[in-house]
Amino acid sequence: MDTRAIGVFDSGLGGLTAARSLRQILPRENLIYFGDTARVPYGGRSRETLLKYARQDVRFLRSFDLKAIVIACGTVSTTSLDTLQAENDLPIVGVVEPTCRRALAVTREKRVGLIATQASVRSGAYEAALHRLDPEVEVRCLACPLFVPLVENGRFRPGDTVIETVAREYLEPLRDTGIDTLILGCTHYPLLEEVIAGIMGPEVALVSAGEESAFELKRLLTAGDLRTGEDREGELTFYVSDRTEDFERVASVFLQEDLRHAAQWVDIDRY
Ligand code: DGL
Repeated sequence: MDTRAIGVFDSGLGGLTAARSLRQILPRENLIYFGDTARVPYGGRSRETLLKYARQDVRFLRSFDLKAIVIACGTVSTTSLDTLQAENDLPIVGVVEPTCRRALAVTREKRVGLIATQASVRSGAYEAALHRLDPEVEVRCLACPLFVPLVENGRFRPGDTVIETVAREYLEPLRDTGIDTLILGCTHYPLLEEVIAGIMGPEVALVSAGEESAFELKRLLTAGDLRTGEDREGELTFYVSDRTEDFERVASVFLQEDLRHAAQWVDIDRY
């Protein structure tokens, strides 16, 4: 039994979709969430910059006494996971492998699409994980760089002409390749699930990065006897590197629950 908190981080709000899954799957655990809102989006940045940011994010989270960290960010998971795991002596879970395992369980004809940020697609990490798990799977990858800024600006609802237009332009050619499963490889994208499903149609199963990581973490904590034994709802604490007001406004939509604690600002350059 271990009552220490779990650290969770993303470039901004997207990781809250993973935090939501963690709340559902491990409701008693305390979560400390950091959103690097001053430097979002991460998705177009170089591997070197991403590693620098990710190390700072982890150093900040490790200023708390944590038992594990979830990288609730596809971009950091695809580019920096191995380095962060090698540099830190606590379990660190990314989104790539668990999400790929789920996609392979779901696909009917082994025709899987992946949408993610430019850095994630450039890294080839999702593709490599899918092929490692099943060499026969056919994979189509597509970067959707406009999705994250639109989501961060609240343009994710079905019927919004801006997001609908952008999504159609990205996704119609991908749909026409005949994939039967689509990985939403960036943790911001589950917010676009309805818009994406509307374009891809009912024949294409959507698999979200984030949700499976929560199951992976649960397995890991259980195996290591690290689950909290406390019989109460876990606390959720937020830190961001830019305006807390903007974060709080949208965070409750992402989390689908009211925030019980105000978000706090952190000077990430100090870490
Ligand atoms: N939500 C992140 C991801 O999963 C980062 C997106 C971004 O900042 O560009 O990739």
